[in-house]
Amino acid sequence: MSGQQLLREIGKSGVAASAVGLGTWAIGGWMWGGTDEAESIAAIQASLDAGVTLIDTAPAYGLGRSEEIVGKALKGRRDTAVIATKCGLVWHTNKGKHFFDQNGNPVHRYLGRDAIFHEIEESLRRLRSDYIDLYITHWQDPTTAIDETMRALEELKASGKVRAIGASNVNAAELEAYIAVGGLDAIQERFSMIDREIEADLLPLTQANGISTLSYSSLALGLLSGVIGPDRIFSGDDQRRDNPRFSVANREKAAAFATTIRPVADKHAASLAQTVIAWTLAQPGITFALCGARNPSQALDNARAGTIRLDAEDHSAIDAAIAAKLTAMDR
Ligand SMILES: NC(=O)c1ccc[n+]([C@@H]2O[C@H](COP(=O)([O-])OP(=O)(O)OC[C@H]3O[C@@H](n4cnc5c(N)ncnc54)[C@H](OP(=O)(O)O)[C@@H]3O)[C@@H](O)[C@H]2O)c1
Repeated sequence: MSGQQLLREIGKSGVAASAVGLGTWAIGGWMWGGTDEAESIAAIQASLDAGVTLIDTAPAYGLGRSEEIVGKALKGRRDTAVIATKCGLVWHTNKGKHFFDQNGNPVHRYLGRDAIFHEIEESLRRLRSDYIDLYITHWQDPTTAIDETMRALEELKASGKVRAIGASNVNAAELEAYIAVGGLDAIQERFSMIDREIEADLLPLTQANGISTLSYSSLALGLLSGVIGPDRIFSGDDQRRDNPRFSVANREKAAAFATTIRPVADKHAASLAQTVIAWTLAQPGITFALCGARNPSQALDNARAGTIRLDAEDHSAIDAAIAAKLTAMDR
C-alpha cells in the first residue's frame, strides 16, 4: 500500500517533519570522494518537491560545505524545510578533545557554552537562515558537563534561534544525563538492518521519555541500496574504499537479501532502498530515517519510501530474510 508522505513530531517540540529525512553528509564531499554542487542542490530541491521536509546537515560535513549547499538550495523556500544541524565538532579552537583532522584542520569535540554560541552564528550564516529547527550535539565532549551544554542550548531555544534540541552518538549514561537535565527532543544514532545495537540500550530510554530517534546511515552507507555490485570501485577519500563493510562477501549477502525480499518490494512497486527505509521507519522507537542522497534520482527514490506502508506479512518476510541473509557481516 502506498499513501501520503509520513510526518512525525520531533520529541515534544511541536515541530513536525517528514519521517524520511535527507542526509547531506555526502553532499559535503568529505569522506565520500567529493561533491558536485549542482547535483547536490538538485537533490535537495527534488526531496522538498517530493514532500521530504527534513534535511540533516552538520558543520563538520566538509567544514561548512554541506551547510552552504543546503543554504543555497533553500534560497526562497527556507520555510518549507525542517533543518537539523549540529554543534560540537569545532575547528575554530583547540579546546575539548581532539577527534580527527580534516583538510589539515584539527577538529575537536567541544560543547562548551562559548563554542556553541560561536558555532550557531556560523551555521545560521551558511544556512542563510535565522533559526535552526533541530540543533544536535554531534559527538559527545568528555571535557564539558552535559548540564552546561544543555543550558546553552536552552538559551538558544528561548531566543528563538533553535526550535528543538537533539544529541547524537550518545551512550546510555550520556542519554540518561540529558534526560535528567530535561529538554531533549531527539537523538540521532546509527541504525539499520545490520546496525541494531541501539535496540538494546538507547531505544527503551527514548521510548519511555517521549524522545524521537533519527536513524543515520539507514542504508548502511549504501550497502543496502541494492545497487552496489561486486564491481563498484570507491575512489578518492570515499570511506567505503577499504571498509570491510563493503567486502565482496558483504556485497553478495546484500544481493542475496535483495533477491529474497524482491516479492515484497514488487508488491509495493518499490525499489530495494524504499523497502529498506520503509522497514526502518516501522521499527519501534525509530521516528525518522535519515538517508543520504547526492542526486535527484536517489533523492526521489528515498522520498517515496515515506509513502509506503508495509503490512505484518511484509514484515515477517523481511525479518526472516534479515535473519537468513544479513548475518555475520564483515564490519
Ligand atoms: N550524527 C552522526 O554522527 C551521523 C553519522 C553518519 C550519518 N549521519 C547523517 O545521516 C545521513 C544518512 O546516512 P549516510 O549518508 O551516512 O548513509 P546512508 O544513508 O546509509 O547511505 C547514503 C549513500 O547510499 C547511496 N544511496 C542512497 N540512496 C540510494 C538509492 N536510493 N539508490 C542507490 N544508492 C543510494 C549513496 O551513495 P553512492 O551514490 O555514493 O553509492 C548515498 O550517498 C547522513 O547524510 C548524515 O546526514 C549522521
